[in-house]
Amino acid sequence: MIDPRAWGGNKGAMETFTGSFTQQEPIPEAGIEAAMDVLRHGRLHRYNSNPGEVPETARLEEEFAALTNARYCVAVASGGYAMSTALRAVDVQPGDKVLSNAFTLAPVPGAIASVGATPVFVGVTEQLRIDLDDLAAKAKQANVLLLSHMRGHICDMDRLMAICDAAGITVIEDCAHTMGAAWGDVPSGRHGAVGCYSCQTYKHVNSGEGGFLVTDDEDIAARAVLLSGSYMLYDRHRAAPGPEAFARVKDVTPNISGRMDNLRAAILRPQLQALPEQVARWNDRYAVVEVGLRGTPGLTVIDRGDKEHYVGSSIQFLLLDWAGDKVRDVLQRCAARGVELKWFGANEPVAFTSRYDNWRYVDAPRMPASDRVLRGIVDMRIPLTFSLDDCALIARIIRAEVSAVFQTG
Ligand SMILES: Cc1ncc(COP(=O)(O)O)c(C=O)c1O
Repeated sequence: MIDPRAWGGNKGAMETFTGSFTQQEPIPEAGIEAAMDVLRHGRLHRYNSNPGEVPETARLEEEFAALTNARYCVAVASGGYAMSTALRAVDVQPGDKVLSNAFTLAPVPGAIASVGATPVFVGVTEQLRIDLDDLAAKAKQANVLLLSHMRGHICDMDRLMAICDAAGITVIEDCAHTMGAAWGDVPSGRHGAVGCYSCQTYKHVNSGEGGFLVTDDEDIAARAVLLSGSYMLYDRHRAAPGPEAFARVKDVTPNISGRMDNLRAAILRPQLQALPEQVARWNDRYAVVEVGLRGTPGLTVIDRGDKEHYVGSSIQFLLLDWAGDKVRDVLQRCAARGVELKWFGANEPVAFTSRYDNWRYVDAPRMPASDRVLRGIVDMRIPLTFSLDDCALIARIIRAEVSAVFQTG
C-alpha cells in the first residue's frame, strides 16, 4: 500500500511505505485444490500410494528434474537438509574440511558442521560473488566446495569450475536464492555435481519448508534417496536411477529421514509451472529499485554479469567504508519511513544477517578484504506482493535517506 500523500497534492509531505517486507503471495488456487485432494484422501506420506497411483512427490521430482535439465531429483524436507545430504552423498566424512563462502547464511556452514566437517571460508568480492582468486589459493585445503549463490549473485562459473576441476574439488551448489536463475544457458545448480534448492516460504517457491537435490550422478542420486529415508521403497521414485545403482549402496547407506510429503508437493507443483513468469515479475521489481538507487551519492549498486540470469527476489547495495553509526542512521531513518533494510556489518547477528566471524564453532582466520565488503552490505527483500509503484517509492526513500546521511559527512 502506498501512502496517498506520495501522489496527491501534498508534495511537501514525507513519503512513507506501509507494505510488509515478509508478505509473500498466496498459494495458487491450483495448489490449494491439489492440497485439498491430498488432505481428503489422507495419503500424505510419499510412499503411501494405491496401486498404480503416482504420488504428488514423485511427480514433483520428475517436474523439477525436467525444469533443471537434471537426470535425477530428490525432494526433501528443507534446503539445509538437501545440503547435508549432498555432503554425505559425496562422502564427506567427520573431520574433513569443506570450502564455502564467507558471505552466506547460517544454514550453509551449519550443513557442513552437521556432518562433522569444518568449513574453510572463501572471501567475497565487491560484486558479492565468491572471490575466485581466494578460492584458487585455498583449493588444496579441501576436496569439496559447498558454493552458495548467496542472494542470487552468480560468479564466473566457467572459471570456478576450471579451478575446481584442476584441483579435483567436487562442487555442491547451494541454490536457495537461485532457483529459476541461470549462468549462460545452464540452470543454476547444474555446473557442479549436485544442486540444492530450498522451498521455504521466503524463497522462489513456497511450501513452508522443503527442498530439492538434483544430480546427474547415479551413485550420488541413489545415496541421496536412501539417505532421505526411502526404507527399501526406492523403486517408487521416478526421477531416480535404476535398481543396480541402489544395489551398490543400499546396505551401507544410513537412513537419515528428511523426506518431502505429498501435501507440500501438491502445493509446489503449480508454483514450479509458474516459476518463469514469477522470475520475470521479480526482475521487473528489481529493475525499478536498481534504477532508483543508481547514482545515489555514497551508495554502490551491485553490477550483474552478462551471463548471470538472476532472480531479483532481493536487492543488495554497498555503503562501502561508511562508519557503522552512519549505516545504523540510514537503517533507522529508512525504517521510520517503512523501509526494512538488513545490514551484514553489525557486530552481533541480527535475525538472518550473520557473518563468517559470527559462526564461532569455526576457528576462521580473519579476511580483511572480505570484512570491508561485509561491513558495507545492505540487503532488502522484494516480495512479489510489492507493486512497481511500491518499488519506485522504496527506492526514493532509500535514496533520500542515504543522501541525507552521506551529506553529514
Ligand atoms: C543461502 C541459503 N542457503 C540455504 C538455506 C537453507 O534453506 P532452508 O531454510 O530450506 O533449510 C537458506 C535459507 O534461508 C539460505 O538463505
